[in-house]
Amino acid sequence: MIEFTVNGKPQSLDLSPDTPLLWAIRDHLHLTGTKFGCGIAECGACTVHLDGNAVRSCQIPLSSVQGMRVTTIEGLQTREAKAVRSAWVAHQVPQCGYCQSGQIMSASALLKQTPKPSDADIDAFMSGNICRCGTYPRIRAAIHDAAHALGQES
Ligand code: FES
Ligand code: FES
Repeated sequence: MIEFTVNGKPQSLDLSPDTPLLWAIRDHLHLTGTKFGCGIAECGACTVHLDGNAVRSCQIPLSSVQGMRVTTIEGLQTREAKAVRSAWVAHQVPQCGYCQSGQIMSASALLKQTPKPSDADIDAFMSGNICRCGTYPRIRAAIHDAAHALGQES
């Protein structure tokens, strides 16, 4: 039995220890905001926070989240996330939307770690989140606006 919390709620799952966290989140906990894209840590669609850090859930075996805190897009409520969501709406960032929960998870983690990100910081941190619709310019602008709104960008 693997025990951990998801969005603040305790969970116990009796699954094979090598089950990817993404499978547990989507198929067993029915939190489908986290997306499956590539399954090989190349696209970022499956990004969640593990103890506050952005990780690719398709590559995290369930055994390694024992006792840890998992946050998905459904439960992301940090101040950074609120600023990111508002900026996403203001900039109308999404196109098809498929990559966007992963983008928001990464952007929120970036602002927590680097409150005043430069363009280079944004490009480096977000480089693992692929958008087939090419929303990168709006993502970058929205992250700058979110940083500004948080009072963290000069
Ligand atoms: S599905 Fe995990 S990085 Fe693509
Ligand atoms: S908005 Fe379509 S893949 Fe990013």
